[in-house]
Amino acid sequence: MPVVPVLRGVDLTVPQGGMVAIVGPSGCGKSTLMFCLAGLDPVTSGNVWTLGEDLGKLKAGAIAQLYRERIGFVFQSYNLVTALTARENVVLPERLCGRRADLDRADAILSGFGLGERTRTRVSRLSNGEQQRVALARVMANRPELVFADEPTGALDTASSRLVLDQLRAHADGTRTVVMVTHDLDAATLADIVVVMRDGMLTQSLYRPSSSQLLAAMEGNPA
Ligand SMILES: Nc1ncnc2c1ncn2[C@@H]1O[C@H](COP(=O)(O)OP(=O)(O)OP(=O)(O)O)[C@@H](O)[C@H]1O
Ligand SMILES: [Mg+2]
Repeated sequence: MPVVPVLRGVDLTVPQGGMVAIVGPSGCGKSTLMFCLAGLDPVTSGNVWTLGEDLGKLKAGAIAQLYRERIGFVFQSYNLVTALTARENVVLPERLCGRRADLDRADAILSGFGLGERTRTRVSRLSNGEQQRVALARVMANRPELVFADEPTGALDTASSRLVLDQLRAHADGTRTVVMVTHDLDAATLADIVVVMRDGMLTQSLYRPSSSQLLAAMEGNPA
């Protein structure tokens, strides 16, 4: 199979306990970068150290263990089990680990995402925006040390976006870390560091930028 180069010369440090946003045009490699940082895609050269582990040296089982205990990934395509209800999706990781499923707690977490009325609804019957919030609730239920969220507000209206962003911001509490891809520049300004990507490269890294600084960076002007 031909090799398609996606990321080129990426050098990124994500400080523990903060929130990092990755922004850039569609197709520039944001999801690929997240997959590499999260150990879901191997890199063809270079190294990725995540939570003190050199991911290239870890076996699949060790990466799976990181997902059970320390990492959560909210996929751009949600990856829910659509035949199950919202609450069953939230407790699924616990069940897969053989732990007792706490459905009341799942309901409370879903309520925090504005889904209190939808906890017993099958995911296949939920709107895209509702499914997106179930995916977030499923990850946040585990309170992972490191959360990756790929376009977590992509399908949401302003009010639901606010709920989601407030929860992600609160999660990055000085110990827990959030890495988020977003098209929404206002969402990105909630991050401590915003990384601008273009054509597989990181072009700028901005510390707590204003919306106008971010817009200028996206347009290719130096900070
Ligand atoms: N498995 C693959 N095989 C071939 N090309 C791929 C593969 N995965 C990604 N690409 C290509 O890599 C580039 C970056 O894709 P990626 O999904 O990372 O972009 P993105 O920045 O997340 O885009 P979007 O904002 O639309 O989600 C795209 O041109 C895509 O077609
Ligand atoms: Mg993407």
